Amino acid sequence: MAGRLQNKVAIVTGSGSSGPGWGNGKAISLLFAREGAKVVGADIDGAAAALTQQMIADEGGYSIAVTADVTRTSDVRSLVQAALDAYGRIDILVNNVGIAVVGGPAELDEGTWDRVIEVNLKSAYLTCHHVLPVMISQRAGAIVNNASVAVHGWAGVNYGAYAASKGAMVAMTRTLAIRHAAEGIRANCVLPGLMNTPLVHAALTRVYGNEGDIANLIRTRDAQCPMGHMGDAWDTAYATLFLASDEAKYITATELLVDGGLSARFA
Ligand SMILES: NC(=O)c1ccc[n+]([C@@H]2O[C@H](COP(=O)([O-])OP(=O)(O)OC[C@H]3O[C@@H](n4cnc5c(N)ncnc54)[C@H](O)[C@@H]3O)[C@@H](O)[C@H]2O)c1
Repeated sequence: MAGRLQNKVAIVTGSGSSGPGWGNGKAISLLFAREGAKVVGADIDGAAAALTQQMIADEGGYSIAVTADVTRTSDVRSLVQAALDAYGRIDILVNNVGIAVVGGPAELDEGTWDRVIEVNLKSAYLTCHHVLPVMISQRAGAIVNNASVAVHGWAGVNYGAYAASKGAMVAMTRTLAIRHAAEGIRANCVLPGLMNTPLVHAALTRVYGNEGDIANLIRTRDAQCPMGHMGDAWDTAYATLFLASDEAKYITATELLVDGGLSARFA
């Protein structure tokens, strides 16, 4: 244990991954535990959350797994209570849950648009709404919201609703960072670029077609990146670790790009 988060209690939403391999929340949970945090991992997929918990336990770390749909008030209230019951405080909140739906106003039906906003944005409102009173009473806390480089422009895919949800997340984060700055609470966003995670495997298949050759689809996406390859969940996790840790004690209301330079190409 290197101890960059020693004895901190961290809620991580979307702590599983939507398929085999490393999703962002899974890597964040493992890394936080390795750095000494007590992790409260929440996922709508209880088995995925439990797998992450088991991996942390296998390494000698501390965590609990909570099955929760973070778009539901009752689930979020139970999640926060579970964290307090297990560990007595909440130092870090990572809003990592998100779904990547391709399409904008022209393509998406109303229900799909609403679902993207609900999962990607309302979930962060709900967790903040229930965690902030705890952080305010502690006069300490760090919130890290997982947005996306898509807030800066066209990321190679028509992510209209997705970009709208993540852009609103950035705006919410900036304002709540200022609102709570004097209370010892920091809030920042990470903006991952094109990352190679299980979510992307499913999305790639939808965008480029299902030739059954995921390696070819990965190469197509790798070629879009200035470095010639996508990032991975650990790149997101290390950036999140920094913003969550006391090393970032004077950093609030900002966004940390983890995009391998992709957005510098947008202009
Ligand atoms: N992969 C990328 O290229 C990329 C780029 C930028 C941002 N992001 C963001 O990173 C985050 C995680 O993405 P990932 O690629 O690791 O995806 P992932 O699908 O592997 O992991 C997301 C997890 O969230 C869970 N989840 C989904 N809806 C939920 C809900 N309502 N309540 C609780 N849990 C729920 C899923 O079950 C899954 O385990 C998302 O917010 C995504 O927008 C990803």
